[in-house]
Amino acid sequence: MLDQVEEVAAQANAELHKISSPEELEAWRVRYLGRKSKLITILRSLGDVPIEERRALGARANQVKTNLEALLEEHKSKLVSTSHQKLESQKIDITLPGEPQQIGRLHPTTRATEEICDIFISMGFQVAEGPEVEWEYYNFEALNMPAEHPARDSFATLWVDYRTDSGKMPMLMRTHTSPMQIRVMEKTKPPLRVIAPGRVYRYEATDATHEWMFSQVEGFAVDKNITMADLKGTLFEFARRLFGHDRKCRFRCDYFPFVEPGVEIAIDCFMCGGKGCRLCGNSGWIEILGAGMIHPEVLRVCGIDPEEYSGFAFGMGVERIPILRYGIDDIRLFYADDLRFLKQF
Ligand code: PHE
Repeated sequence: MLDQVEEVAAQANAELHKISSPEELEAWRVRYLGRKSKLITILRSLGDVPIEERRALGARANQVKTNLEALLEEHKSKLVSTSHQKLESQKIDITLPGEPQQIGRLHPTTRATEEICDIFISMGFQVAEGPEVEWEYYNFEALNMPAEHPARDSFATLWVDYRTDSGKMPMLMRTHTSPMQIRVMEKTKPPLRVIAPGRVYRYEATDATHEWMFSQVEGFAVDKNITMADLKGTLFEFARRLFGHDRKCRFRCDYFPFVEPGVEIAIDCFMCGGKGCRLCGNSGWIEILGAGMIHPEVLRVCGIDPEEYSGFAFGMGVERIPILRYGIDDIRLFYADDLRFLKQF
């Protein structure tokens, strides 16, 4: 039995060195110091051992037990201190000040476009988008501006003719979003309530009030019995939602070949309330969009019978809204990529 005790002592010692986790250590304790372990069993049955062996065996077994218990405690604290070291090395100082993240923002044109579209979407309009490089047909011809029509002069055009082996086809950078009227109407039959936001281009020298690229939102409604009253009601409501509920609207005759009659819509100046100031050029009125009843010829070209259907259309410049609202005095600031300007919005 003494041999067994020595064997246990040697084995327990050897195994302890390999232990690196608290779970293993607990298993070791159960194996060598647990109630059913060999050592404890021997100690408990000492009474059955002949008296002449009992003393030596008891003394040695108790010594081994005390020894193993001490080793257990020692190893336990060793494990704890290594895991402490590990935690220490992984420590994160949560008191460090944060690093501010640069977050982007929407361009003022994008914001104004979304704002305009949201108003019309809430009135039941749907959004359509089309190409910026456009056929002459959609930009002019189908909009009642055949070749040599003098109204083409009011749209300084960037031509980008499409060349093929059999000749060239007239293409351009769209000068307005009105081609979307044709693109939608030739594919979709009325009733229609559509808005079309997008970029347009003009072949123009730039200055504080002219850019060669800017944005428009086109809108149109085609149905049976659409009248000028629908145009007025829709755009009046739009103007008030965008510029304030006490706005007045002024409708005056204007000319666009693709509408008849054509109107220019102005609101009373929201800065001076119509008395006259720098913003409204002392007139008390601010022009915000062009509109009119869609010309019967335009409907016919799209395969819509003008005897049965009628419609209104409007188009507006998008940059004009932040320009008016924030008093921006140079349109070139919008696309100059100057963060000092853009960060203000
Ligand atoms: N397309 C015209 C422009 O660019 C605006 C407009 C659109 C006028 C629809 C009437 C109807 O100036």
